[in-house]
Amino acid sequence: MIGRLNHVAIAVPDLEAAAATYRDALGVTVTEPEDLPDHGVTVVFVQLPNTKIELLHPLGEGSPIQGFLDKNPSGGMHHMCFEVDDILAARDKLKAEGKRILGDGEPKTGAHGKPVLFVHPKDFDGTLIEIEQA
Ligand code: CO
Repeated sequence: MIGRLNHVAIAVPDLEAAAATYRDALGVTVTEPEDLPDHGVTVVFVQLPNTKIELLHPLGEGSPIQGFLDKNPSGGMHHMCFEVDDILAARDKLKAEGKRILGDGEPKTGAHGKPVLFVHPKDFDGTLIEIEQA
């Protein structure tokens, strides 16, 4: 059912500093910050050969990552995103396994313009899981 690890998302209190860490300490290509107002985040993409890291910073009021940063002021891993071929089949399988899908359970358009769903972290070893129909 599951495909590639699409990205790991890290919530950070200082986007420029975080981007510099990856660029300078690891020598990785990082993009310029990009505002995604529909998702309440500004994001920097860290390109790795086999996946990417997304550095997330709150944008505007009611950002979905503000609460996470309030609890984790120095930042931390926010979620992992796995690719699936069929998001509805993946959702139904996860539900059948007793995993709670966040929101109304219907796929939303994610930060990359593709359908996504999130699975409750308490049902996944304390890690918020995003699934994306690639
Ligand atoms: Co994501």
